[in-house]
Amino acid sequence: MSLTTFESGRCPLPRPKVTALTIQEKKARHEPIACLTAYDYATSRLVDEAGIDLVLVGDSLAQVVLGYDNTLPVTVDEMLHHTRAVRRGVRSAMVVADMPFGAYHQDAREGVHNALRFVKEAGAEAVKLEGGEKRVELVQRVLDAEVPVMGHIGLTPQSLHKMGGFKVQGKDLSGIESLMKDAVALDRAGVFCLVLEGVPREVAAMITKEISTPTIGIGAGPDCDGQILVFNDLVNLTFSPAAKFVRQYGDAAALFKNAVRSFIADVESGGYPSDSESYHLSAETRADLEAILRRKQLRTKQPLAMSR
Ligand code: KIV
Repeated sequence: MSLTTFESGRCPLPRPKVTALTIQEKKARHEPIACLTAYDYATSRLVDEAGIDLVLVGDSLAQVVLGYDNTLPVTVDEMLHHTRAVRRGVRSAMVVADMPFGAYHQDAREGVHNALRFVKEAGAEAVKLEGGEKRVELVQRVLDAEVPVMGHIGLTPQSLHKMGGFKVQGKDLSGIESLMKDAVALDRAGVFCLVLEGVPREVAAMITKEISTPTIGIGAGPDCDGQILVFNDLVNLTFSPAAKFVRQYGDAAALFKNAVRSFIADVESGGYPSDSESYHLSAETRADLEAILRRKQLRTKQPLAMSR
């Protein structure tokens, strides 16, 4: 790998560090907040250099990187491993680690313990938790431990079995009321931003107006304070049908496949590597080597000649 691959596109002056406060100030100034997921060093470095506000090491890692059907199997240790890689790639964006299923579901003590691991062992600057009113005590405990919290309500993939599938939430009056209660409870508890996933546009707009916490939508329409997408969806690196809200901004799958096909063709035709892609001896070493080889050749030929 060329050492200059990333350096060439790198800003000489990094932009100011984005913090939980920056995200909150953006809402106050009505400036949209752009967020993406990332799971590794290279991708997180690219999205950071492109100017993203917040990088979420989402538990969608389970599906888009590890190939599981849903987010439930991914472990705290796997999330820590990928959060460390992302942390190494990011200079300016805020890095948030998603607490996976099982990391905070038994009691608040366990949740605080795991939140602290993401900060201490992986360099996360905040953690994300799924759930509304029922998470208020946990949110407060994690905040008391000095770790900012990103909330997440609506279609919460960790509740897959309870929801009976990946379903848009808040479609009837009682659903809207419970979403609003969840949003207000988390707003009061002090989350620094709130993901609204898979909720009708009208409901996301109401919540965004009602609470002072910035809302970050995914499948929640354009009236949220910010938007987040899964990086792999953005560039066509997922192998499942795209959800309604996904806009594909690039086709990395086609780009990668074409690059690999060209590599195979070049290897098979002998077109790769070329002489200029090969390392060479210095002229002096080459001359010495040629002299040695000539002498060796002479020695091996002589006995043959004498035996005739
Ligand atoms: O895990 C994830 O990718 C997420 C975002 C889509 C909000 O939770």
